[in-house]
Amino acid sequence: MTAGPDRVGVTLGVDLGTSGVKAVALDAQGQVLADVTETYPLLTPRPGWTEQRPEDWLTGTRAALSTIAARLRDLGATPLALGLSGQMHGLVPLDAQGQVLRPALLWNDQRTGAQVQAIEARLPRADLVARTGNRAVTGFQLPKILWMRDEEPELYARLRHALIPKDYLGYVLTGVLAAEPSDASGVGALNLARNTWDTDILGELGVDPALFPPIVRSVDVTGTLSAEWAARTGLPAGLPIVAGGGDNAAAGIALGLTSARPDVGSLSLGTSGVVFSPLREPTPDPEGRVHLFAHADGGYHLLGVTLSAAGSLEWLHGKLAHDVPLPTLLDEALNVPPGADGVTFLPYLSGERSPLMNPQARAAFTGLSLAHGRGHLVRAVLEGSVAALADAYAVMAPIAPLGSLLSTGGGARSEMWLGLASGALGLPVHPTTARPGAAHGAAILAMPAAGLHPDLGAAIDATRPDALAAVPPIDMHAALSAYARTRDALYPQGGQTA
Ligand code: XUL
Repeated sequence: MTAGPDRVGVTLGVDLGTSGVKAVALDAQGQVLADVTETYPLLTPRPGWTEQRPEDWLTGTRAALSTIAARLRDLGATPLALGLSGQMHGLVPLDAQGQVLRPALLWNDQRTGAQVQAIEARLPRADLVARTGNRAVTGFQLPKILWMRDEEPELYARLRHALIPKDYLGYVLTGVLAAEPSDASGVGALNLARNTWDTDILGELGVDPALFPPIVRSVDVTGTLSAEWAARTGLPAGLPIVAGGGDNAAAGIALGLTSARPDVGSLSLGTSGVVFSPLREPTPDPEGRVHLFAHADGGYHLLGVTLSAAGSLEWLHGKLAHDVPLPTLLDEALNVPPGADGVTFLPYLSGERSPLMNPQARAAFTGLSLAHGRGHLVRAVLEGSVAALADAYAVMAPIAPLGSLLSTGGGARSEMWLGLASGALGLPVHPTTARPGAAHGAAILAMPAAGLHPDLGAAIDATRPDALAAVPPIDMHAALSAYARTRDALYPQGGQTA
């Protein structure tokens, strides 16, 4: 497709997130011409289970893309290609006709403890980490497949395709089954060095490799928009659909983070807290305490994930102070000295990933006395969440030390929180001029296929946001020591899965 004489050519990016789907249209310089989010429900049929109905994703995506198509028509802009991104690790199970067998199991679902143990019993952890970059993790797709085999054998007997959420969306838009490395490496069965599904691992677990789609590059066109979806959205039939990337990799692309410049990483204070560190070579933590995934630029990245960062603050706000505006709570925390006068918070409200890798871990406040008030609790939550990220970075730094971090996610709006993170990780933290997310990254990944740039490197260089001055770091020494003492007292087994 070409834009024609007086029309602006744009690429679209879709991020199939957990709370909603976001779609954007970007011009070749990364300027946002249209931007829309449609939300859908998160199902929690039992404690620890999280599911979504794929048809809800499709309803949301259809609405989002229709809005984008209408805005582009008004602006006289031409969509040239569409890239995909989304929540990682989930399982969308399809039968031989491509019909969804049951609601999708999501990345934060914790039901697969027994299946993770079964994987660990059959495959030595060191071997699994050396091959896939990761140990067995409850949230990943592979244990979800084993869960279906164990718990829903009749549905499992009909299972023919196991797709990650955004690859399911790609299949619906194009009719083509495909996966790309940045998301496929979050399944738990991709041989990272060979970039193929690991038939030894799958054979040992009795899982058919034919369940998984072929792997293409993140910038490759997998297929084109079907006539049916063109009619539903108002986008042109035949629009090239680009494989894209998992949401962390795509968000990294949007910030301009590449494996060619591994000294610049990112810090995201969203529901979960994430440190993203690009890598040239696939070097894992031998114990798998942080994740190693493929990056969408052909390289790799480490990912340290603490499951409840802004999630902990939202919990405190919602449960204990819902009538108080959040900025007031943050001001109260600012007036409490570093170390929160001895109050410590372990942020394991949803269990914990890096570095504990313990889905059974639970949160705790310690050190409370009659003298403490609400501001101490808020300060302890802010400090505890960045102390958890510092724990993850302590595993990452010996593999790939970073020189600086770009900040992203909702928490990036709080200079104090960024300052605490900078103090905890011992790294300069820079806000950026724009705060682009995974949908922007997906649109950038589609730019080479659209002909807007000759290759991904050129697309990233043209769209990279500028880094602003680093925030002043805030002293975290007292908080970090207290955090380590509390963590070791409550979780002396450290990285052992309970
Ligand atoms: C990464 C992870 C989350 C999801 C959220 O390992 O589980 O960041 O990708 O969408």
